[in-house]
Amino acid sequence: MNKQRIFSGIQPSGNLHLGNYLGAVKNWIKLQNDYDSIFCIVDLHAITVPQTPQELSKKIFEVAKLYLAAGIDPGKSIIFVQSRVNEHAELMWLLNTITKTSDLTKMTQFKDKSAKEANFESVSAGLLNYPILMAADILLYDTNLVPVGEDQLQHIELTRKLGRKFNQQFGETFVIPEEFIRKEGKRIMGLDNPLDKMSKSASSEYNRINLLDSPEIITKKIMKAITDSEQGIEYSDQKPALKNLLNIFSSITNLTPEKIASTYKDNGYKEFKEDLAEAVVDYLKPIQERYNKISDETVKKVLDNGAARARKLAQIKMKEVKKKMGMII
Ligand code: AMP
Ligand code: TRP
Repeated sequence: MNKQRIFSGIQPSGNLHLGNYLGAVKNWIKLQNDYDSIFCIVDLHAITVPQTPQELSKKIFEVAKLYLAAGIDPGKSIIFVQSRVNEHAELMWLLNTITKTSDLTKMTQFKDKSAKEANFESVSAGLLNYPILMAADILLYDTNLVPVGEDQLQHIELTRKLGRKFNQQFGETFVIPEEFIRKEGKRIMGLDNPLDKMSKSASSEYNRINLLDSPEIITKKIMKAITDSEQGIEYSDQKPALKNLLNIFSSITNLTPEKIASTYKDNGYKEFKEDLAEAVVDYLKPIQERYNKISDETVKKVLDNGAARARKLAQIKMKEVKKKMGMII
């Protein structure tokens, strides 16, 4: 029997952080054993906000190396860079034509990112059309399951909507995908603001723990993380900052947050944070060690091979899509 397929991606728009890892990559590592897996470095998405060319190529390489260091096995999974497979942009254009702008302007991510612009007229069309490109990524490979953090749910709902609409209009073509979101780690919040997700683009470095941060920096960031004004360790919505730290602790130890809270209930925040910092440092250490051993040559080979394999699959699907739409192929 054919295996089901998973597809997911990360933007090379900054440093990969603990939110990316616990929300997405950690699940990919497990799923790749049972699914036909494709993991993408979505550079075409990253350029929907300004990027410096030199910095972008560095980040693309860094994300690929981190995929490998985290345990994505190129023997099991396809790892590739989005812009090297032209069919993503091509399918996006076709899907553009069946997408309503009202479905794009209501996206939370679009609202958040466009709010940062001085006025609506200066928001790029790329930022608005971002979810159509994501739908193209997913639909192009007959994806069954998309393992992501919770913030991507709305985009996957749109992907389903576009897939169904295309199938209805032009005949059965696309597999309709489901999201794969795990309760633990689905939304890691910023260390400096527990009401907003940890993010590559947050202005303060104290918002996030990068996967490549040194033990000293990790410890400093956790010790400085805001905590709630009342003392006492408990897992509760009334204490969102502490709740977030307990969620992180839980995700990396596989103990429930309630169990961890009960272990520390008679301790102060300081002791709790020291132990959390130690646990995070130990958790990231093997990834960092592997990262430092992977050569640029290895990464290049993996990406060349991945692009060739992805391209093969994408070309077959695009032929079918164009034929269904009445284009001569
Ligand atoms: P991005 O950094 O936006 O490219 O996100 C890459 C992946 O990480 C997606 O699956 C996101 O849902 C996930 N992700 C990003 N930030 C977080 C977070 N703070 N908590 C959990 N998952 C996240
Ligand atoms: N939009 C996703 C994010 O920022 C990244 C992404 C692009 C993606 N294409 C995808 C995730 C396809 C899953 C599947 O997190």
